Amino acid sequence: MLENDIPQQIESCKIVPVVTLERAEDALPLVHALVAGGLPIAEITLRTEAALDGIRATAAMPAALVGAGSVMNEVQCRDAIAAGAKFIVSPGLDEGVVTYCLSVGMPCFPGVSTATELQRAYNLGLRKVKFFPAEAAGGVAMLTAIAAPFPKMKFMPTGGITLENAGAYLQLPLVFAVGGSWMVKPDLFRDGDFGRVTEIAHLAVTRLS
Ligand code: 3PG
Repeated sequence: MLENDIPQQIESCKIVPVVTLERAEDALPLVHALVAGGLPIAEITLRTEAALDGIRATAAMPAALVGAGSVMNEVQCRDAIAAGAKFIVSPGLDEGVVTYCLSVGMPCFPGVSTATELQRAYNLGLRKVKFFPAEAAGGVAMLTAIAAPFPKMKFMPTGGITLENAGAYLQLPLVFAVGGSWMVKPDLFRDGDFGRVTEIAHLAVTRLS
């Protein structure tokens, strides 16, 4: 990675692959496949038993930035950080997660989809959040409208993002990255071939840069 500043690194990557691991042993080849495709970043969601081991297996990779997603509470947040996660993503706004992350200097991106949640995130001191679920919540039009009173806020739309619609978000100055699972679906590598992950990641980087 080029920069030490993790939010800046995420912004440089532009696309955050959202990974749900079925097997912890897939984590290392999967993240290597993303790096080979030009996407040196992964958000491993704490939705499966394999997640923390997957973070542990990849967090020390010098070429990639690995964070934790679907972090619901402070206990999970501490576990993810102990496993080596470099950033924390949540579907919603939990004040325990946010205040803990702020207290230890850990970048965190809670999900917001209403003005009330966004206002709370702002007042907690955050300036970068996830917009979730982006497409179902109203897409670019909703994001633009909800962001208007918060000119200092930047967003990572996630949920329903595809190769086809990602560009419309990324061209907005208020968007610092998008998240999506389309290049890391378990079906793509269940047979042990991670080449398709590299291909789809490469296509995303090429098309969206
Ligand atoms: C999720 O909920 O898994 C993430 O927000 C990614 O959503 P997606 O599968 O629609 O990309």
